[in-house]
Amino acid sequence: MAAPLLLVAILLSGPALTCQCTNDLFQIEKPFCGWECITFALMWPGAFCVGLKKSLECNIPQYIQSWTIHGLWPMYQGSCCSCWPIFPSDLEELEPEISHLWPTLLKTTSNFTFWKNEWIKHGSCAACVEGMNSPTRYFQRTLKLRGHFDIDRALMDAGIKPSCNKTYQFEDLHSALAPIIGDKYEIQCLKDDEGRELLIQVKISLFRNFTLGCHKTPQAEPTDARTAWKASEGHPCPKDTPVFYFPISYEHPHDPCD
Ligand SMILES: *[C@@H]1O[C@H](CO)[C@@H](O)[C@H](O)[C@H]1NC(C)=O
Ligand SMILES: *[C@@H]1O[C@H](CO)[C@@H](O)[C@H](O)[C@H]1NC(C)=O
Ligand SMILES: *[C@@H]1O[C@H](CO)[C@@H](O)[C@H](O)[C@H]1NC(C)=O
Repeated sequence: MAAPLLLVAILLSGPALTCQCTNDLFQIEKPFCGWECITFALMWPGAFCVGLKKSLECNIPQYIQSWTIHGLWPMYQGSCCSCWPIFPSDLEELEPEISHLWPTLLKTTSNFTFWKNEWIKHGSCAACVEGMNSPTRYFQRTLKLRGHFDIDRALMDAGIKPSCNKTYQFEDLHSALAPIIGDKYEIQCLKDDEGRELLIQVKISLFRNFTLGCHKTPQAEPTDARTAWKASEGHPCPKDTPVFYFPISYEHPHDPCD
């Protein structure tokens, strides 16, 4: 019973729904394009590696000096199309830019492996939308968003600079960021060994047309195969506790301030 219904649903909804597995519709694992909001996540390398201290080794190349892209994730969907491969040549032209803006910081994962995982897990779900319908376009679109959401500058303009000894209130972060990222966002922190709250990630919620303000009641995130990020998981920054914005340390990425 389920199979004919699925076929009808796919045919009615047009080619955008069929992923690339057009000659084998039933390989589709999840409803494709059932999402409404997409999360653009930017991460602060200075804190990301602090969170990985006990599990995985970080390496921050010298040229990483700003917030990096963590990902562009259609909300509450994952791994939509296993038969849409990505190859290094898809990213060849973008590579200088993505290695700067969307690097892996883990010693044990290659850049391409990281990008491949992002594509399989998230990009393949985003690919039903115009402008993201290939590995190359998905990465291009994400880079464009990075240019648009210049949170480095927004923080700097508000006088919020990386420091080991200065703290900021949630309200300071909020008023610096809200003008560019809207009000449907999450500013995430990580608690270090000494109980300090560190600014680690900003998640911006967008509609499918990349305008701000999409809001969806949170559900459980799809299970993340990448244990790395699990180990460095953020939580919403507390509103009543001072927050640190640690500098990036290339020599001691796991302990920038010890
Ligand atoms: C990722 O690419 C950059 C630039 O090519 C390189 O310096 C870095 O070592 C690469 N990272 C890994 C883990 O291979
Ligand atoms: C605060 O930390 C910065 C480096 O982040 C350092 O240059 C400065 O001397 C420190 N100030 C104090 C008062 O410890
Ligand atoms: C973007 O999409 C949202 C939700 O569908 C809609 O309300 C908004 O008007 C759209 N904005 C533009 C500029 O198309």
